[in-house]
Amino acid sequence: MGKKMDHASATGNTVGTVGSVSAGWDHLGKRGDGPGRNLLEVRGLKVSYGGIEAVRDISFDVPEHEIVTLIGANGAGKSSTLRSIVALEKPAAGSIRFDSNELIGMGTEQIVKNGITLVPEGRRVFVNLSVYENLRMGAYLRNDDLESDLNWVYSLFPRLKERSWQAAGTLSGGEQQMLAIARALMSRPKMIMMDEPSLGLAPIIVQEVFDIIREINKMGMTILLVEQNANMALKAADMGYVMETGQITLSGAGKDLAENPVVKEAYLGKARK
Ligand SMILES: Nc1ncnc2c1ncn2[C@@H]1O[C@H](COP(=O)(O)OP(=O)(O)OP(=O)(O)O)[C@@H](O)[C@H]1O
Ligand SMILES: [Mg+2]
Repeated sequence: MGKKMDHASATGNTVGTVGSVSAGWDHLGKRGDGPGRNLLEVRGLKVSYGGIEAVRDISFDVPEHEIVTLIGANGAGKSSTLRSIVALEKPAAGSIRFDSNELIGMGTEQIVKNGITLVPEGRRVFVNLSVYENLRMGAYLRNDDLESDLNWVYSLFPRLKERSWQAAGTLSGGEQQMLAIARALMSRPKMIMMDEPSLGLAPIIVQEVFDIIREINKMGMTILLVEQNANMALKAADMGYVMETGQITLSGAGKDLAENPVVKEAYLGKARK
């Protein structure tokens, strides 16, 4: 388990730069030198919709403080996997252990309280609420003082601070994605899951989203990232899993998978350059 080498910081002014934030969240701890424990352990997970088996007996780990990516084509079962982790889908079988607790049987709110948030596919922000109100909604399960976290999130996303009173629906696509991530941070998770955060964004904004992902990870956040942009995801990830029709067909270090001929052929081909 190597240390992060890439200390990329965001550039460009379309979404906003990453503020120079030294104070992160103490509750997370930091990426260490030694191997971390598994924060999430998924074993034998199955998700079915009627007769359709969307996820067929998959197992994977997410070590604490690392970025793990699940890549795969449309319909592979990536979203179903993330949604079942936060009980938005009911698994047909399997075990999901997070921070030593079994999540199967818990409701979504309880799982969020345990420290997982999902940034859903299609960045569903509350379009009629302001940026500020969206951020408050992200913290609705907490009753402690939000002020310092708001300031922290605003320092990570200065562009959102400027737009604090703007209706979220009037933000650009990239800004809405940043808001969706910022809102997820407001629940003070130990692990964030992101479902295709780069979808539909221009390349420069995709770069900024990945810079933010790296930045948050550097602060200690564990990240489970689902992406169709396999190239970017594998570059950012410590560990990757390839999903095909509900199964994990390949796994390995992100950098190794990016060099794997099968992965190159299927996911890093001409269409994805
Ligand atoms: N609510 C649902 N009802 C019925 N079938 C569903 C439902 N949600 C997903 N599926 C099916 O389950 C399979 C896996 O879907 P899922 O959304 O998990 O894939 P995905 O890997 O996230 O795909 P994409 O990259 O297109 O987002 C697909 O065949 C899909 O049609
Ligand atoms: Mg999906």
